[in-house]
Amino acid sequence: MPTKMHIGYDLSWMQLEGRWRLPGSWTNAVYPDIRIFKELALIAERGLLDFMFWGDGTGIPSTWKANRHDAVKWGVGWPRQDMSPYIAALSQITKHIGFGLTYSSTYMHPFYTARLLNSLDHVTNGRMAFNVVASSRRADAANYGFDELMEHSQRYERMEEFIDICKALWASVEPDAFLWDRESGQMADPAKVKAINHRGKFFNVAGPLACVPSPQGRPVIVQAGASPRGIQASASFADMIFAASPGLDKQVKHRTELDAALVAQGRDPSGVGIVWDIVLIVGETDEDAKRRHEQLLTAVPVEAVGAFMSHQCGYDLSKLPDSFTIEEINEQIVRANASPVGFLNMTNHFDPKEKVTRKDFYELIRHHTAGYDHAVVGSAARIADYLEETFIATGERGGFMIAHPPAVPRDLLNVIDFLIPELQRRGRFRTEYRGGTLRENLLDS
Ligand SMILES: Cc1cc2nc3c(=O)[nH]c(=O)nc-3n(C[C@H](O)[C@H](O)[C@H](O)COP(=O)(O)O)c2cc1C
Repeated sequence: MPTKMHIGYDLSWMQLEGRWRLPGSWTNAVYPDIRIFKELALIAERGLLDFMFWGDGTGIPSTWKANRHDAVKWGVGWPRQDMSPYIAALSQITKHIGFGLTYSSTYMHPFYTARLLNSLDHVTNGRMAFNVVASSRRADAANYGFDELMEHSQRYERMEEFIDICKALWASVEPDAFLWDRESGQMADPAKVKAINHRGKFFNVAGPLACVPSPQGRPVIVQAGASPRGIQASASFADMIFAASPGLDKQVKHRTELDAALVAQGRDPSGVGIVWDIVLIVGETDEDAKRRHEQLLTAVPVEAVGAFMSHQCGYDLSKLPDSFTIEEINEQIVRANASPVGFLNMTNHFDPKEKVTRKDFYELIRHHTAGYDHAVVGSAARIADYLEETFIATGERGGFMIAHPPAVPRDLLNVIDFLIPELQRRGRFRTEYRGGTLRENLLDS
């Protein structure tokens, strides 16, 4: 039997950078109308997907030209609601599909986050995943009292401490601590409820968590670090990894580096899957998919492109000289404490040492912003071939998160109606949910 893939669907960007107006996007409602999300949740569960996902970013991009004008005007990186109440509502009309939610360990407090995720795990009946991010975007920092981005490795040090505390809090009330004995009136056993008394570099937290243990005990913990420091952090605590798809060679290298980091932490790499973030455009035929691919270039207004990419890489691209090398700009991004990984993925096609003109560079980022340059496009059979090849080459652990769909519900429907049946025919995707919780479904392969 072939090993099965796990598939998530990333809805973080559906309302952003012009996607909301592309043919195939929802009608008769505007973001963030809950009816849009309800429809998407029902479609995704019909297709037996593992989870729906929302990333987080809390600021309006303002790195480009040092102001937010273009971002506000064209809907770049904003608006983004806090999705936790939405997830609670969606869990009431679905039974199996999981929910991935993102919070920043740089800006949030671990006690608040652990308590919130415990409640969400109850409401969803054990279907929560928590994507913890270090946050590399300047607009977010300013909303939480920081004038500058925290230094990159310090952000990860803080993340490790944050997760240690969350895990300790989730374990601070034992699963059988509650008695609910109506006769005696005893509610819980004090011997099974313990303080954590954490005193650390970034946080002091006494605990215990004043909550009833949740169905999964703790949410599935996900992390997407791609730098050596980020990979080291994810190897130390994550149940599952998210990663970009910059090309098979780089993905195999990422898998190898993660495996080595897991072994160094005394963990078994066979139990830790990477879910590759990928832009897929599935059509009924190859021609149909290609037509849709071309529409992508009309989605993002030209004026919005600089605002988007400057936000993503934490560097004001309006300041680029007429000609430069990728290496030079990358050095400046590193010096500014932003994360260089996004910039390096975007500039994959360039020789880092060769001179590039500003005009050529802008044309490239226009394609990159729309997802045009890295979309995998075609009929279900063509895309299934691609996914199988990547899955096998990267160790058949984890799967894919379909990201940046041009327009939903159309592109989600194409995945569910064309791609999923093709993967099922090949024995690569489930034909029913067999687990009771998200964790069980992710382990079922
Ligand atoms: C699938 C995926 C989802 C991500 N979601 C977010 C997010 O919601 N918010 C955020 O600030 N960063 C997000 N990131 C960025 C990562 O957390 C990380 O910062 C990035 O991969 C660069 O790695 P580094 O921090 O090790 O340099 C995401 C990355 C991936 C691949």
